[in-house]
Amino acid sequence: MSTNKLLLILFIIATLAFSTSQANDDLKNSPKLGVAADELSPQPQWNLSIAPDGKGLPAGSGTAAQGAKIFANQCAACHGPEGIGGAAEPLVGEVGSLTDDYPEKTVNSYWPYATTLFDYIRRSMPIQAPFSLSADEVYALSAYILSQDDIIATDAVMNADTLPKVEMPNRDGFISIYQQKP
Ligand code: HEC
Repeated sequence: MSTNKLLLILFIIATLAFSTSQANDDLKNSPKLGVAADELSPQPQWNLSIAPDGKGLPAGSGTAAQGAKIFANQCAACHGPEGIGGAAEPLVGEVGSLTDDYPEKTVNSYWPYATTLFDYIRRSMPIQAPFSLSADEVYALSAYILSQDDIIATDAVMNADTLPKVEMPNRDGFISIYQQKP
C-alpha cells in the first residue's frame, strides 16, 4: 500500500473516532431538558382517547342538576353563566345555525358525538386545572351542557352506556373522506 493511501485511511479513521467522541460529549453536556412522559405528574393513564362509540369511557355517572353546580363554580367565569356569552368559546345554543348567514359552531350545534365532551373536558378543562375533575363530575358537566339545548332530558343520567347513545343535532353534517370516491 502506498504511503498516500495509508495516510488517507488513517485520516478517515481519526475523523470517525473524533466525530463519535464529539457526539458522546454533546450528549454528556446536553442540558437534559424534559422528562420521560411516564414520569410526568399528574399521572392519569396516558391513553385517554374516547371513541365516538364510547370505547374508553370510565365508570361513573352524573346529571344536569349536578353539572349545573359544577359549571357555575368552575366554568361559567370563562364560558358565561349558562355556557354562552363569556370570553371563551360558547358551548351551547345556536343549534341549527350552521346553514344560516351567521353560523355559530358551539358544542351543541356542531360536534357530531357527545362522547367528545367527556374526552375534551377530562383532558383539558377547566383550562387552568386539567385532570382535576372526577369521572362523575365530567359526566355531570356533559349532561348539563347537552340538556341546555334539550338534546337530552334534564333528568337524564349520563354514563358510559347513555352518553354514546346521545344523538347530536349535527351528527349527519359531516362527510367521511373514507366514503368518498376519488
Ligand atoms: C380560565 C378559562 C376557562 C375555564 C375556567 C374553563 N374553560 Fe373551557 N375553554 C376555555 C378556552 C379558552 C377554550 C378554547 C380552547 C381552544 O380552542 O384551544 C375552552 C374550550 C372548551 C370546550 C371546547 C369548545 C369548542 O367548541 O371547541 C369545552 C367543551 C369546554 N371548554 C368546557 C369547559 C368546562 C366544562 C369547564 C368547567 C369545568 C371549562 N371549560 C372551564 C377556557 C376556559
